[in-house]
Amino acid sequence: MASVDTLGRLLGSLRVSVTDRCNLRCAYCMPEAQYTWLPKASLLTFEETTRLVRIFADLGVRKVRLTGGEPLLRPHLPTLVAQLAELRGIDELALTTNATRLAPMASALRIAGLHRLTVSLDTLQPERLQAHARSSEHGAVLAGIDAAVAAGFPGTKLNAVVIRGFNDDELVPLLEYARAKRVELRFIEYMDVGGATRWEDTQVLPAAELLARLASHYGPITPVSRDEDPTAPAERYTLPDGTRFGVIASTTRPFCRSCDRARLTADGTFFTCLYGASGTDLRGPLRDGAGDDALRALIADVWTRRSDRGAEVRASLTRREAQRPVELHREMHVLGG
Ligand code: GTP
Ligand code: 5AD
Ligand code: SF4
Repeated sequence: MASVDTLGRLLGSLRVSVTDRCNLRCAYCMPEAQYTWLPKASLLTFEETTRLVRIFADLGVRKVRLTGGEPLLRPHLPTLVAQLAELRGIDELALTTNATRLAPMASALRIAGLHRLTVSLDTLQPERLQAHARSSEHGAVLAGIDAAVAAGFPGTKLNAVVIRGFNDDELVPLLEYARAKRVELRFIEYMDVGGATRWEDTQVLPAAELLARLASHYGPITPVSRDEDPTAPAERYTLPDGTRFGVIASTTRPFCRSCDRARLTADGTFFTCLYGASGTDLRGPLRDGAGDDALRALIADVWTRRSDRGAEVRASLTRREAQRPVELHREMHVLGG
């Protein structure tokens, strides 16, 4: 049963945050010194998560992405992966990770039935990870990427959020690293979502400038047709030697018009936009004994009333308005980047 919102967008993909915890403190996501984590009893159990994902699949979800916080901090994650991999209707089961814990787990995740991995890698310089994310685990991240390749995951992607003045001198080294590992790199414009409390528009490197810089180094860059997946956030390009990479221009060219994403937080709140200020509690009805039909009706009702265009609205604000803190937004480590 397909579910369509008020702008004609089908519900197609679900991002499931399995924990709000993270072992890094990326300045654009979790800048504070202290966090109060969700209590364990409020987290959905694997059975509850699997049941909700099955109901989302009934409503048309075909892509599921596990996120966090850092999803690999959730104990026994391969058990959840195995349960989700059994569900009918899910064509793609992926995971976004910071890879600090990936090396010892990559092959268990693959055996459990995970299809694809995306690893966040913003810098090749360990001291920059220390400064930006307060982590000395850069070596573990690189080992995690190697383990993903060795475990045989197809289509592994690297996400690099580009911040002017921080890592915009690493465009070519990051691309060369990805090419050597035979994985696809996506450059991501810095977004002023929840945790990005120090976001300034001057720190955004617009996709157009990024492409111009790469073209001056490599020569002409060719766009790849979007036919493969019109809802994908990344525009894809090739270098003259055929190397592919992507650019996610979520700040200067928001993709709200084709956004098919729903989000489920670790405590069972359903959001219809990354910029959503509030969501719909699904854990309450679930634990109060609601049947599948009632949960399906609740989710379908929220989606059919959906009109969110969060990133587009942000982009349309004047510079002055945009500089105001985004207090209302839930943080990305809670919402599941
Ligand atoms: P695939 O295309 O399936 O590989 O996944 P993805 O790109 O959706 O997932 P990923 O977790 O790798 O997210 C990459 C980037 O996309 C994030 O850093 C965000 O900048 C952006 N992004 C993800 N979800 C949303 C969203 O709902 N809205 C907006 N505006 N941007 C998003
Ligand atoms: N802007 C852009 N991307 C971000 N991410 C986290 N915070 C931001 C932000 N403010 C990215 C992470 C991860 C993905 C899920 O979201 O680096 O790769
Ligand atoms: Fe952790 Fe990811 Fe947020 Fe960084 S972006 S603090 S790795 S959840």
